[in-house]
Amino acid sequence: MRIAHISDFHLPTEAGQRVKGALPDANLIEAVSVLKRQVPGPDLVVLGGDLLDEGQKGNYETIAELFRELQVPIHPVVGNHDDLKALKNSSLLDKERRASGYGSFDHEGLHVILLNTGGTGKSYGNIEEQQLFWLSEDLYRNHGKPVMIFMHHHPIDSGIPWLDKMKLQNADAFWEIVPPYSQNILGVFFAHLHIQLTTVVRGVPVASPPAVCFQFSGNNEAAKAELSDEQPGFNLIDVHNLGAGAPGAGTPGTGGQGTDAGTVRLRSVRLRTVRFAPAVGSTPASGSGEQTRQRAEPSSAGHAAEKKS
Ligand SMILES: [Fe+2]
Repeated sequence: MRIAHISDFHLPTEAGQRVKGALPDANLIEAVSVLKRQVPGPDLVVLGGDLLDEGQKGNYETIAELFRELQVPIHPVVGNHDDLKALKNSSLLDKERRASGYGSFDHEGLHVILLNTGGTGKSYGNIEEQQLFWLSEDLYRNHGKPVMIFMHHHPIDSGIPWLDKMKLQNADAFWEIVPPYSQNILGVFFAHLHIQLTTVVRGVPVASPPAVCFQFSGNNEAAKAELSDEQPGFNLIDVHNLGAGAPGAGTPGTGGQGTDAGTVRLRSVRLRTVRFAPAVGSTPASGSGEQTRQRAEPSSAGHAAEKKS
């Protein structure tokens, strides 16, 4: 099974507007085009949040139409730049299951949990008590299944102080709930950092994809937002041997035997052509007022994380 995790489009209110020098519309169109050319194609797509730069003003239907061409289920996660009310007015959000912006579903043996960390009205994230309670119950009810958890904000320290002020504020509460189920959790996937990151926390692989718009630098000395010239992109999450072990025999937290969750391989696909605003004093590309940059390197950089329980 292949899941595309694609995030942080930051589409502007007016098409063609630049956001921090990038042209998010052009990047998103190219990202969807590159995604469509992947073999095998994704079985489902998770949009990691910050789909619009100003969610309350925008129209999510444009994004729904763009991804509809993939003809696979599309599931959005709510970011701090998003607006739940506007998302509900689009065909992107399953309103019956996710009126509150969070929920879960099964897809061919995989249990997918989508959390809403973006309701604070600030750049940092939070999971309110009712949602934490729901998460705990949902994990318990589905403890025999392989699970993936998606959210927008990072529930870990990235090591970059200005970015970590914007992390999931109650990450401790999240990590109190998850570890008893770590045998069955294939990964916790977030975005928000605009930096590709992969690590393991308490036995659980965690990862963020590159953003589709602009990338932040990983300079931990930087006092505030500093951009990098890395290419935009997205992650492909491949799951092999899904739930290959004995079916849900154990009770989490009691030392019982759990299920083999499967093996996860992550690959970041980077866009080859990206449009940036010209640097001050540089000569714009003829006629377009923009600078098109092409790279000769391969369009993907791999990183594998394995989870076998
Ligand atoms: Fe973002």
